[in-house]
Formats: sequence, C-alpha cells, structure tokens
Amino acid sequence: MDLTALFKMSYGLYVVSAEEGGDRAACLINTATQVTAEPPRVAVTVNKDNFTAEVIMRASAFALTAVDMTADMPYLGNFGFRSSETYNKFEKYQVAEIEGIPYVSEHACAVFACKVVETVDVGTHLMFIGELKAAEILNAEEPLTYAYYHSTLKGKTPKNASSYQGE
Ligand SMILES: Cc1cc2nc3c(=O)[nH]c(=O)nc-3n(C[C@H](O)[C@H](O)[C@H](O)COP(=O)(O)O)c2cc1C
Repeated sequence: MDLTALFKMSYGLYVVSAEEGGDRAACLINTATQVTAEPPRVAVTVNKDNFTAEVIMRASAFALTAVDMTADMPYLGNFGFRSSETYNKFEKYQVAEIEGIPYVSEHACAVFACKVVETVDVGTHLMFIGELKAAEILNAEEPLTYAYYHSTLKGKTPKNASSYQGE
C-alpha cells in the first residue's frame, strides 16, 4: 500500500476551540469538513491525547475558524505544536466569542459555532459532528490550504495529526 497516495487529498487548516469549567483549549487541525447542508453540519477529527478533545467532550460545543493566508509559522505553531493543558494559546492573540465560545479572530477568515450532535470513536481520534449554530465571514482573505502550508511555509505534521506519516 502506498500511503503517500494520501498526500493527494486536499485540505484547509482550521483552529478548533472550546471552553468548559475554566479550561480553554484550541488546536490546529486539517480534518474539518462540511458533512451535510440541511441541517448544516461539519465534522472535526481531534486526537484523544489533545487537550482540546477533552474540553470539546465536556462542553459539547466548539468554535471552528478557517485559517487565512496571512497566518505565519509562529501562529500555526502556537496552535499546532503546544498543548492548551500547560500553555495559554489565547494570550498572544485577539480573542472573540461566538455563541459564548472563545476563538482567536486574527488570521481567520471565517468562524463557526457548533453544537456537538454526535461523537464517533475512530481509534486514535474522536470525530465530533457539529451542527452549526452560527457562522460569520471575518475578512476577505483567502483560506490557507494544507498544500500551501507544506510547499511554501515548509510546515511539518506532528504525531497527533490525523495525517501524520512519521518523520
Ligand atoms: C498542520 C497541522 C495539522 C494538524 N492536524 C490535526 C488534526 O487534524 N487533528 C488533530 O487532532 N491534531 C492535529 N494537529 C496536531 C494538534 O494541533 C496538536 O497536537 C496540538 O498541539 C494539540 O493541542 P491541544 O493539546 O491544546 O489540544 C495538527 C497540527 C499541525 C501542525
């Protein structure tokens, strides 16, 4: 089996965030997609070891931002290479709320507020199916693609990402 065939799949990059009981978490994901139109639902897939998965489970809700082309590596690293359990990912950036859920509004061209309607255990990760409660365009920038992250920003994929294929 040629697993590099998976590199031919296209994605964007997103930050999924949640808050519950004084805990705030956010992480970078490429695994967000719209799954139905009526009602509008999206799926996000988060590693069970990510603190964000625990907070989404407890909150039964999450915010999702589409990262835009202005995002730089410090921003992507802030959300993709550190843990919210031990580090405040929100302190360096402008924070807003949608439906009471905090999210970082910088370098994000759209935001969605979702209520979790189903959680699917897919092994190493949990897939949260979220129904849209609110959606907003934040700016006119283009969304950042995973391909651009690899080819131009020379970004890496860490172990907890769904698309990890080793060093
Ligand atoms: C480009 C990129 C894509 C990623 N995609 C995912 C993903 O789809 N699902 C996931 O669980 N983690 C993904 N990650 C890893 C998480 O962002 C990372 O483990 C993060 O530090 C978890 O933070 P937390 O412990 O605060 O939740 C990705 C990281 C990067 C850099």
